[in-house]
Amino acid sequence: MAHSGKYFIETYGCQMNEHDSEKMCELLERLGLQVDASPEQADVVVINTCAIREKAEHKVYSSLGTLRNMKRDKPEMIVVVAGCVAQQQKAKLLTKFHHLDLVLGAHHISELPELIEHIGKTRERISRVEFCNDVSSLHMLAPARGSSPVCSYVTVMQGCSNFCAYCVVPFTRGKEQSRDSLEIIEEVSELAGRGIKEITLLGQNVNAYGKDLENGRRFSQLLEKLSLVQGIERIRFTTSHPKDFDSSLAEAIAGLEKVCEHVHLPLQSGSDKVLEAMGRGYKFSDYLDKIQLLRIRAPECAITADMIVGFPGESDDDFEATVKALHRVRFDQIFSFKFSPRPGTLAEHMTDQVPEEIKKARLAKVHEIQDEITQTYHRQLEGSVVEALIEGHGRLQGQFFGRTRTNKIVNFSDDGHHAVGDIVKVTILRGLKHSLLGEIV
Ligand code: SAH
Ligand code: SF4
Ligand code: F3S
Repeated sequence: MAHSGKYFIETYGCQMNEHDSEKMCELLERLGLQVDASPEQADVVVINTCAIREKAEHKVYSSLGTLRNMKRDKPEMIVVVAGCVAQQQKAKLLTKFHHLDLVLGAHHISELPELIEHIGKTRERISRVEFCNDVSSLHMLAPARGSSPVCSYVTVMQGCSNFCAYCVVPFTRGKEQSRDSLEIIEEVSELAGRGIKEITLLGQNVNAYGKDLENGRRFSQLLEKLSLVQGIERIRFTTSHPKDFDSSLAEAIAGLEKVCEHVHLPLQSGSDKVLEAMGRGYKFSDYLDKIQLLRIRAPECAITADMIVGFPGESDDDFEATVKALHRVRFDQIFSFKFSPRPGTLAEHMTDQVPEEIKKARLAKVHEIQDEITQTYHRQLEGSVVEALIEGHGRLQGQFFGRTRTNKIVNFSDDGHHAVGDIVKVTILRGLKHSLLGEIV
């Protein structure tokens, strides 16, 4: 054990990145390091980065700037950049940032301990970014120590082969690859043994699970199998792709008790012209057909989405189609973004880039429409009783927080008879803008 000391880890980006950070924490702890709340005293500092939009990418450069000064006072500090910016920029980062020791792509997380030890001994500066496309290394890493005592992420597949015109993920995470279902079941059983009640299955395109496996289980069959794991009470999954959404998933949500009534199904745009330019593989009417299917089979199911405004060539009419789509679908919640040109993607150099002011105005409009819809849903819940899993203590003294099966955050007071990990019935007293307020029945 070459290192006994402190580590600090900073995470940007999606749930997959959060989970990768959890895995890295576990690996660093196996090496004898202990987590620290700030980088100043740390022997190893990891920045786990996201490249999805320009703004996300810039955060790594400002973090690295701060670390440069810290390392002047503490030259033995090992600085690691992991995640999607690492994968995209590769060894260029080492040339640009002389205080950086290791560039670590997502396919090399399991090597982190050896690399840290090696760098500690030799001070060699290393870049590990080749795609190795071997999902079995995920099994070695599992189960990672999560940040919640009762909820845990489980990676079921890595990468994405869709190459949507705007997106860096296929370049930063490699091709779509599903893990063996037996390994996943084993991992989930282990988590259940450690008191985990809720799992969230992760994949960039999670409902395409199994399509790349020969004779492998498909996603709804995986859900069926995981439903049999004793101790697991709730199963969530993200992100689903509309083109791979079929009736078997609607049936699984309707028929499997443990599978929660929530689908995150990014629409991106309401305009068929824009959807086509994005390469999404569906028209708005196809999307409507699919959610219709879902709403018939599982009327309780919440639907959330991601939307992009200002994709190159998006006219006023195209944007109007997005506005109409929001009113038509009435999503429970959406995450909306201004299009950001990303290096290496098809959309980067498309003509007809939309001016920043127009993107800004369109995003504001989308926020306004959706806030109203979300709040209406929340208000409609007032007086009803929902099921919540207690995930932790709220910010206020004597308060718990949890999530409904439909993935809405609910805060409620501790009645003195329950603990984190319990599933309780909660009466909703107030529907707020971003959450619900309730009391235990
Ligand atoms: N795999 C998921 C989401 C991946 S990234 C899916 O296919 O939906 C999360 C969200 O970021 C995307 O849904 C998209 O809305 C947004 N996004 C991705 N690239 C972007 C870009 N270049 N500019 C703006 N938003 C982007
Ligand atoms: Fe990106 Fe499209 Fe893959 Fe989602 S499906 S990760 S948006 S390329
Ligand atoms: Fe960002 Fe990479 Fe996730 S680009 S959104 S961290 S897959």
